[in-house]
Amino acid sequence: MGGYFDLILRQGKVVTISGIYVSDVGVKNGKICAIGDLSAETAKKEIDCTSLHVLPGVIDSQVHLREPGNDHKEDLETGGMAAIVGGVTSVFEMPNTNPSTTTKEAFLDKISRAKARMHTDHAFYVGATAENTDKLAELEVLPGCAGVKIFMGSSTGNLLVHDDETLERALRSGKRRIAIHAEDENRLLERADIAKNSQNVASHPEWRDVTSALLATQRIVALSEKTGRKIHILHISTKDEMEFLSQHKGGRITVEVLANHLTLAAPECYEKLGSYAQMNPPIRTKDHQDGLWKAVSDGTVDILATDHAPHTAEEKAKTYPASPSGLPGLQTFVTIMLDHVNNGKLSLQRFVDLCCHAPARVFGLRHKGFIRMGYDADFTIVDMNKSFTVRNEQVKSKCGWTPFDGETYKGTPVMTILRGQLIVEDEKILSQPIGKPLEFDV
Ligand code: DOR
Repeated sequence: MGGYFDLILRQGKVVTISGIYVSDVGVKNGKICAIGDLSAETAKKEIDCTSLHVLPGVIDSQVHLREPGNDHKEDLETGGMAAIVGGVTSVFEMPNTNPSTTTKEAFLDKISRAKARMHTDHAFYVGATAENTDKLAELEVLPGCAGVKIFMGSSTGNLLVHDDETLERALRSGKRRIAIHAEDENRLLERADIAKNSQNVASHPEWRDVTSALLATQRIVALSEKTGRKIHILHISTKDEMEFLSQHKGGRITVEVLANHLTLAAPECYEKLGSYAQMNPPIRTKDHQDGLWKAVSDGTVDILATDHAPHTAEEKAKTYPASPSGLPGLQTFVTIMLDHVNNGKLSLQRFVDLCCHAPARVFGLRHKGFIRMGYDADFTIVDMNKSFTVRNEQVKSKCGWTPFDGETYKGTPVMTILRGQLIVEDEKILSQPIGKPLEFDV
């Protein structure tokens, strides 16, 4: 077959900003260049999408891929494989590697490590520390940088900026949106004995309690208001924070929620998974989960992400609190969320808004996130009627396990296309890694 187009997706249910329409989509040179009736056209490659939905490529704006320093848990290659097989075409990677990504040198090292090894397009955050606040403005504009990340509470790795004075200095350095892990370090320290004296992971949400999260969120919102700096508050886990944020939203403050917090709830998750369910901020009770879903519905939440945080099964099996915090989630993200769509928890349009349109809008990502003329031809093609059973054996992530082993979800990605190239079909990777650094309006 020849013709003008490199690729035509035929007769899929195409999810656009203004609705879902049955349409053809034409691709040339990696870009979307026709949306409509292309029945008179041919292309080098044509894919029949009848009965499938064509989504913009899913963007995960919070993942931990562990390279350099902890490549035994994950690396850029395996993490990229987990993403692309799971239907994710772009990822923003976190700076709590070893060394932490806090200098230009460490940042450029990640960019070069990703080259020809990552299957997804990618950006890397730089981490704020007390020492690099005066450098953040120049670091955040490096090509391929997703912006600055601040840990207000200690988590995996040693990044931490917890006092208001240093936080304010960081917020005054640069102008892009800063991503914030909001847990109050002083309160975590005051309550550390709760974890130390317990051998039960069910204490985790008691140690890192609702107040620890709420206090930090309130402090960073106040600092954002004081400095005028845009912030993106990551992985909100409590209904209390959502109530507070719904009163303080606006363009300056954006909010993320995680698939894990929407899917798992205490105490069942700790009874079933033990320390394999341990993460920061913790998975909490159902009333908090209900509050998060309400915030998804009422618009308080802007972005949905995974916080994919792989640790090996051996590490996770240690007795609490020696067990590390974090769960892998990249490969299962889309199927789990499509199951929530099938169960009526959110619409498919809202899902696409949360992890395609919104990451592009919130972070100023160029030519991604929408099925729109001239945009990159990234597509997550899904079958809303196909059931998928998750198995540890299918896991591409180097950690080799998933908290969702044995679970069956209805709705699953069946093809992933990056810049016009079919990369994955039915879980099989068909190409060499072609991922490139993402571009932002800065
Ligand atoms: O549970 C978590 N794990 N929360 C974080 O903030 C970091 C992450 C990790 O890197 O393991």
